[in-house]
Amino acid sequence: MSVVPFVRPEAPIRPSQKSITLLGATGSIGTSTIDLLCAERDRFRIEAVTAQRNAQALAKVARNLNAKFAVVADPDRYRELNDALAGTGIEAAAGAQAIVEAAQRPADWVMASITGAAGLRPTLTAVERGATVALANKECLVCAGALFMKRAATTAATVLPVDSEHNAIFQALSAGRRDDVSRIVLTASGGPFRTASLAEMRAATVEQALAHPNWSMGAKVTIDSATMMNKGLELIEAHHLFGFGSEKIDIVVHPQSIVHGIVEYRDGSMIAQLGPPDMRVPIANCLAWPERMPGAARLDFKQMANLTFEPPDPVRFPALVLAREALVAQNGAPTVLNAANEVAVHAFIGGELGFAGIAALVEATMENAGKRGIMREPVDVDDAIAVDHSARALAQSLLPGIAGMTI
Ligand SMILES: NC(=O)c1ccc[n+]([C@@H]2O[C@H](COP(=O)([O-])OP(=O)(O)OC[C@H]3O[C@@H](n4cnc5c(N)ncnc54)[C@H](OP(=O)(O)O)[C@@H]3O)[C@@H](O)[C@H]2O)c1
Repeated sequence: MSVVPFVRPEAPIRPSQKSITLLGATGSIGTSTIDLLCAERDRFRIEAVTAQRNAQALAKVARNLNAKFAVVADPDRYRELNDALAGTGIEAAAGAQAIVEAAQRPADWVMASITGAAGLRPTLTAVERGATVALANKECLVCAGALFMKRAATTAATVLPVDSEHNAIFQALSAGRRDDVSRIVLTASGGPFRTASLAEMRAATVEQALAHPNWSMGAKVTIDSATMMNKGLELIEAHHLFGFGSEKIDIVVHPQSIVHGIVEYRDGSMIAQLGPPDMRVPIANCLAWPERMPGAARLDFKQMANLTFEPPDPVRFPALVLAREALVAQNGAPTVLNAANEVAVHAFIGGELGFAGIAALVEATMENAGKRGIMREPVDVDDAIAVDHSARALAQSLLPGIAGMTI
C-alpha cells in the first residue's frame, strides 16, 4: 500500500518587510514584543512607539528600533522625550491625540498593549484604517466590544488575539467548523490566592497580590489575576472575539498555565493549545500570522508531568461571577464593570481599599449605575468613553464607604 504524504498548503511568504506600531511599547507586552522584533530585525520596520509617562524608556526603545515616531501620553513628559531623542531624526510628540496619530500612521501591524480603557480610542483608530491589530488590551473589548467588532468587520481590519487563552482558542478553532463547536474553555492559573482562605484574602497585601506564581505582567493585570477579574474580563473578551454566548464559554482553573485554551467539538474531541507561560509565544503567533516565526520559549515535558484542572471557586472569587452577570446583562454592564474595576485596582494599589473591597466596589457600582441610569449600551466610541467616565465617577464616590467596610 502506498502512503500519501500529508501536505498542507503553505501561506505565501511575504516578500516585503512588515511595518509595526507598538501602542504601549514600554510595558510588559511591549517589551516581550520588542524582544521578538529584535531577533528578526530584517523582517520588521518600526513606524511608531508610544508610552504613558516613561519618556526615558520610550526614547531608548525608539532609538533601539529606529522608530519614526515616539509619543508619550503625558504632555509634561514631552521635553524629556524630545531631549532624549535629539539628533536621532525620530519625531517626538505628546498627548492623547498624538497617541491616536501614532495609531493612524500607516503600519501594517499594530500591537494594542495600552492598559485599560485608555487604549480604546487609539486601538479603534487602527481598526478604522483596516490594519492588522494584535489585541492585548482586553479592556477595549470589555468596554466597547460590540461596536469594536462591528467596526472591525466593516473596515476588514484583522483582529488577532494576544491574550494567551484567546490565542489558544484562535489556533484551536482552525481544527473544525464553528457550527460544530460545543464549547470553548479558557484556563486560569488561579493566581496567588488559589488556595488561600477567605480570611487570608481579606488581609492580602499589594505585594502578595502582585506575586503571581506563573506570569510576569504589568501591575493592573496581575492584580486582576489575583481577584480573577482578569478571567472575567477574558470571558467577555472571548464572547466578542469568537461570537459564542456565555453558556458556551467555560472557565477552568489550571495552576500550571501550560494548557491555555481548549475548543470542544460536538463529537467529543477537545483541541487544546499548550505552551510555556511566556507571552512571547502568543505574540509570536500574532506577529508572524498567518506564517510562523521562531519562538523565544519552549515547553519541556518535565513541566508537564502533572497537569491539573479544577473548577473556580465563586465564593472566594466573586469578581468572576460579576463579570459573567455583566456579560449576560449586556446593556453597558461590561463597560461599568470595567471602569469600576480600574478604579478599584488603582485604589487597592494606592492603599485606599482592601483586597476584598475590589469586587465589593465593582458590585456596588454596578448596582448603583443601574438605578442612576448610567448603564446603556454604548452606540459609539464617544458614548463608550462617556459611560466609562460616569461609572468611574460613581465608583470613586462609593469608594470611601466600601473602603470603610472592607479595609
Ligand atoms: N502582561 C501580560 O502578560 C498580559 C497578558 C495578556 C493581556 N495583557 C493585557 O495587555 C495590556 C497591557 O498589559 P501590560 O502588562 O503590558 O501592562 P503594563 O506593563 O502596565 O504596560 C502598559 C503600557 O501602556 C502604557 N500606558 C498605560 N496607561 C496609558 C495611557 N493612559 N495612555 C497611553 N499609554 C498608557 C504604559 O506606558 P508607561 O510605561 O509610560 O506607563 C505601557 O507602555 C493590558 O490590557 C493587559 O490586560 C497583558
